[in-house]
Amino acid sequence: MSPLPLVESDDNAIPLTLITDVKLDDWRNAQADAVKAWLSATGFSGKAGEICLMPRDDGTVASVMVGLGDGEDKWAAGRLARSLPEGTYRLDQIVGVQDKDKNQTATWVALAWCLGAYRFDRYKTEPSSLAAVLVWPDEVDRGYVEGAAEAAILTRDLINTPAEDMGPDALAAAAEALATEHGAVVKLTIGDDLLSENYPAIHAVGRAADVAPRLIDMVWGEADAPKVTLVGKGVCFDSGGLDIKPSSGMRWMKKDMGGGATVLGLADWIMRAKLPVRLRVIVPAVENAIAGNAFRPGDVVPTRKGTTIEVGNTDAEGRVVLADALALACEESPDLLIDCATLTGAARVALGPELPALFTPDDDLADELLDAGLQNNDPMWRLPLWAGYRRLIDSKVADISNSGESGLAGAITAALFLKTFVGDETPWVHLDLFGWNPDDKPGRPTGGEAYAQRAIFEVIRKRFA
Ligand code: BES
Ligand code: MN
Ligand code: ZN
Repeated sequence: MSPLPLVESDDNAIPLTLITDVKLDDWRNAQADAVKAWLSATGFSGKAGEICLMPRDDGTVASVMVGLGDGEDKWAAGRLARSLPEGTYRLDQIVGVQDKDKNQTATWVALAWCLGAYRFDRYKTEPSSLAAVLVWPDEVDRGYVEGAAEAAILTRDLINTPAEDMGPDALAAAAEALATEHGAVVKLTIGDDLLSENYPAIHAVGRAADVAPRLIDMVWGEADAPKVTLVGKGVCFDSGGLDIKPSSGMRWMKKDMGGGATVLGLADWIMRAKLPVRLRVIVPAVENAIAGNAFRPGDVVPTRKGTTIEVGNTDAEGRVVLADALALACEESPDLLIDCATLTGAARVALGPELPALFTPDDDLADELLDAGLQNNDPMWRLPLWAGYRRLIDSKVADISNSGESGLAGAITAALFLKTFVGDETPWVHLDLFGWNPDDKPGRPTGGEAYAQRAIFEVIRKRFA
């Protein structure tokens, strides 16, 4: 992994002046005539993310003005690393932000800088141009910036890597590398061992692929610390199975392990920060492939919990593998259980790419996560576990169907399906997320994306640390 675009110090670093739009006039009026004239000539207005290079007489860059807009946009610095000329910069002044908020602004400048510098260039034969580098501002929360940035970068790399190189084996290897780095223990259950160790649903979905399905189970921390368990959907490629997806729907399905990638990135942060929890990460890693031994529509799949699943649609595979993973998680009654999954297109139709859909029967937990999301620039939106829709996934043949025939309330019925495999005593949250930025935004380049990490980290920290 390339280092973050942050350095300790650089005597020649170019100073940055960050300024809100309302303060710009006052500030400009206090400057020398040449500066006033330049700001007018270039039309700099201080809107969020706007840049104005300030020249010296000799034609070199003296400093850079950066707009903060109304001061509320935490992504204001999200394009700086890629749009400033290559070089090193330092935060010099923050104008228009109250003193008490300056640390937070600086922290967000540093984090947005890192996240906006990201490029996935593993497969480029020519390395991409270097990002501009920032001197660590004095006032930032370094642990937060490093933890959040490395977590998101790991998640993005895992998602962006094509399925050919990020199959169930490679995803498991990524978990093992993480475990080695932080002193965690990983247990892998692979192929037919899934049957003998009672993970029949994971096996059924993954058995048609050339790379064998496997269950990743990572444990870290003191045995008597509060138990936090993260479960992530690890469908390394989702062809749809025999209910094959049309090409437009299949095109980006390398990202269908986005939930697994999200919880692995989050685990990296939690372990790096040494939060006082006993962390467990469970990722059922499979490819939903097509072959003679693929699971079929109409099949009945047994599960770890005993509940039988009728396969209404092989493309509703995520909930099937999560059934076994969630049942396993609940066997030790964790103090908090969160699953992340690129589970339904319906959640995206409802909320678009930016807002993970949050489901939980626990109102306090929902409020804590939604609030942490707002505080940490990581929003989500709650949808209901509406019990009245449980009948939509009734099965005439088995205990439950993996897809409703009506297609209505698809994100909700998927969440209700998962709920069946979670014990009533376990505080549980399900996040149906996209794992992807479809368009380029400040701090969020197109491609794999880590949603919900900062919000979840904050809730775990507040509850248990
Ligand atoms: N991985 C997809 C869901 C998905 C699709 C997430 C596109 C993000 C973008 C999932 O496995 C799936 O195919 N779900 C089906 C379920 C249906 C068959 C009941 C869906 O949402 O259409
Ligand atoms: Mn699918
Ligand atoms: Zn899927």
